[in-house]
Amino acid sequence: MPLLNVKDLRLSYNTDNGVLPAVAGVSFSVEQGQTLGIVGESGAGKSSLALALMRILPRNVAAFTGCMELEGVDIYKLSNEDYRRQIRWRKISMVFQGAMDSLNPVMKVGRQVAEPLLLNPGFSRRQADATARRLLEMVMLSPDVANSYPHELSGGMKQRVMIAMALVLEPELIILDEPTSALDVMIQAQILNLLKRFKSELKLTSLFITHDLALASDLCDAIAVMYAGQIVEQGSAEEILLDPRHPYSQKLLASIPRLTEDVAPQFIPGAPPEMTALPVGCYFQPRCHLTLERCLAEPPPVFRQDTGHEIQCWLYGKHNE
Ligand SMILES: Nc1ncnc2c1ncn2[C@@H]1O[C@H](COP(=O)(O)OP(=O)(O)O)[C@@H](O)[C@H]1O
Ligand SMILES: [Mg+2]
Repeated sequence: MPLLNVKDLRLSYNTDNGVLPAVAGVSFSVEQGQTLGIVGESGAGKSSLALALMRILPRNVAAFTGCMELEGVDIYKLSNEDYRRQIRWRKISMVFQGAMDSLNPVMKVGRQVAEPLLLNPGFSRRQADATARRLLEMVMLSPDVANSYPHELSGGMKQRVMIAMALVLEPELIILDEPTSALDVMIQAQILNLLKRFKSELKLTSLFITHDLALASDLCDAIAVMYAGQIVEQGSAEEILLDPRHPYSQKLLASIPRLTEDVAPQFIPGAPPEMTALPVGCYFQPRCHLTLERCLAEPPPVFRQDTGHEIQCWLYGKHNE
């Protein structure tokens, strides 16, 4: 049984230009101990998907539907209050995109890491502080960082603190939303190594959200490619990296600079669609180099191959074989 199983998740927002379907029927599962990469350009709906999983929804939500099972238990049906008490942070936690600058500037770092522990009845301040120091060590910081204020830390250190905070209640699943995109390459590599270690040593299960397929390739067991609110292709990391089928995945892969080959990285032409005025057929069709007539008329269904590799593209329909 997968740890997390999500079916047909949808989240849309009310905007001045009409309803915006940020997450438009997303289904995937994550196995225990595995890392699923969610990859796509800015605006694809990656952060919205993460917020939907955490059930942290902005005020202008128009609709939020779907099915979510955690360890086989339907958690979508829980009330907001029960979700907050039982699931958020305890079972599913998150490192928010760009959040390292939202640490409380007037509270010592150790206290901020310890704070969620104090929600546990019977947990003393001293126990919480000791746990916070242990967690700081786990993310390879000196435990004395507990006595620092956020402004005394570098960006990479702050991001480690954010990861420590997400791990403090020992969640089953951690969502990392672009955890390294604000950091320089060296620090990025250090954080990635930390995540790799957690994966091998703690068997941590995670969702790794990034716009950078190369980064995902380094850490992920499986990869889901998102475009305009949908997963257009998903499969094992190997399948997606060695044999991408969706024209968008192929272009994403071709846009990665390669050190060992004499080919220049290619840019993906065009821009993502206007999310409140989506095309009738395939959302990627206006940028696609392999368009069929059908792509203009009908949204493609998901075609599933024997290996579990899924592609939402008319090129893989039976009628084309
Ligand atoms: N609170 C919101 N209200 C209205 N539109 C939003 C809101 N948050 C995100 N969006 C829109 O939803 C789409 C997906 O955004 P987002 O989930 O942030 O994508 P990503 O994380 O992949 O960049 C974008 O078109 C974005 O402009
Ligand atoms: Mg985002």
